[in-house]
Amino acid sequence: MSSPPPAFSFDGAQLDLSSPVDRELLRFVLSQALYGEATGVYCGKSLYSARSLEAARFYLRQARQELNHLELFAQIFRTLELTPVPAHWVIRLLSAHNNYYPLKVLMEHALGEGMVLDIFRDVLMQVLPESDPRIAEIQKKLASVCREEEEHIAWGEKETRRILGESPWLRFPFYGILELQLVLAPLAARAVGSRAADHPVLRHLPRFILHVREKMWRQGQDLGIAPAVRPGLLYRLAAMTAGALLFVRSQFSRSTSMLEKNYMTELGFGDAPAEPAR
Ligand SMILES: [Fe+2]
Ligand SMILES: [Fe+2]
Repeated sequence: MSSPPPAFSFDGAQLDLSSPVDRELLRFVLSQALYGEATGVYCGKSLYSARSLEAARFYLRQARQELNHLELFAQIFRTLELTPVPAHWVIRLLSAHNNYYPLKVLMEHALGEGMVLDIFRDVLMQVLPESDPRIAEIQKKLASVCREEEEHIAWGEKETRRILGESPWLRFPFYGILELQLVLAPLAARAVGSRAADHPVLRHLPRFILHVREKMWRQGQDLGIAPAVRPGLLYRLAAMTAGALLFVRSQFSRSTSMLEKNYMTELGFGDAPAEPAR
């Protein structure tokens, strides 16, 4: 199965790997990816909060895939003779672990992975120079990563819908989280945008930021979080406050396990007895 074509066009603009400016730019983007993949491995922690065998199976599989992606990006660094730098603070904030399962599902498994795919498929796959003999192999690796990221997003969206069905009150703070991410995400992009405004690739950056924001908004609408028309500033501020409070609250939350309570039902043995058999 091949990956769908990129949803954004850089009009053929590609990086020049012999230019120190372009190598620095690529090093920045790849370093964010490497950090994201490292924290992605901790999706394994969602296993503890998994509500079903389907969820448990998925997180096991995803953790293995993210570990594989991490090593794959390390290989890309080595192939291009680049050394990673620490991740931007926005990336560290957006990929921080969250013990409150519903928020982890929305922020990491749905919205976060969505943004990751935008960077991999819509940026890296296009701007790496095909004239360089090392790139064909790297693009093959990236294409397989993109296919797996698509699966991760599909799961994150399915699980978000299930959580919203169970707890509809989360729609408002979730909408606030979406608005906060719409504000935060471009900040990481601006860290590179300020470096070279007349650069052949970077001059597309403002349009790319708009594209990512529109995609996130549509994703929010599909998930039933964002309304059909963007509300006024006061409503948005109230939602962002609710989202920020939920985020702060989540930092003190402890993971809640479930499988030891529902494993019998999940395995098809009916409801577990209230008391253990003597
Ligand atoms: Fe990944
Ligand atoms: Fe992923």
